[in-house]
Amino acid sequence: MRKGTVTLTIDGKSITAGEGEKLLWAALDNGIYIPHLCAIREAGGNGHGSTASCRLCFVEIEGYPRPVTACTETVREGMVVHTRSPRVDRLVQTGFALLLSAHRLECARCPKNRACELQKIARERKLRLKLTRLEPFERNLPVDDSHPLFTYDPNKCVLCGRCVWACRERAGVGALGFAYRGFERRVTTFENVPLAESKCTGCGECVHFCPVGALFFKNGAAKQR
Ligand code: FES
Repeated sequence: MRKGTVTLTIDGKSITAGEGEKLLWAALDNGIYIPHLCAIREAGGNGHGSTASCRLCFVEIEGYPRPVTACTETVREGMVVHTRSPRVDRLVQTGFALLLSAHRLECARCPKNRACELQKIARERKLRLKLTRLEPFERNLPVDDSHPLFTYDPNKCVLCGRCVWACRERAGVGALGFAYRGFERRVTTFENVPLAESKCTGCGECVHFCPVGALFFKNGAAKQR
């Protein structure tokens, strides 16, 4: 059965979206930017949902007592949404600063320079790519350079979980997962073995889905999609 559409307003613009669609994709499809890191959308679909872990996609919806994450909110007929407000801006600013505090900032030398989602968010929301209020949380974790095709630098990982999802759901491998809790939380292989010794098949899905420079292809190894 063909799904219907709903009409809603985002930032004063009337848009239509497919019933059941998440607000984040409806906004992006209509040229309205909402910062996001952890949500995944597969081509032509609504994606797998979201772990809502990055806490960057906050919006205000009229009638709601507090901001909500656009990646988890389903569009509704007549919904009135604001992507900017003092509360939203504060939440995004804080979430962004927390991410930056645990992300090794070395943009000029980073293979993802100019293609990094953190840079895009900073540009779109006029946020500084620099820590001002928080101290850097330097983890100094060893870089895994064992794989012939790509490198994993956990010091740049923003724990969005996209690589874990890609490895499990797209590649059907499940070589990557989360380990530890709190500040120690990180993406790693089963039993923390180097990638080359894990069950990684080298498909590169994790690299394609990494929004920052934590996973990157080695020179000449970049695969075309
Ligand atoms: Fe919504 Fe990450 S994209 S919380």
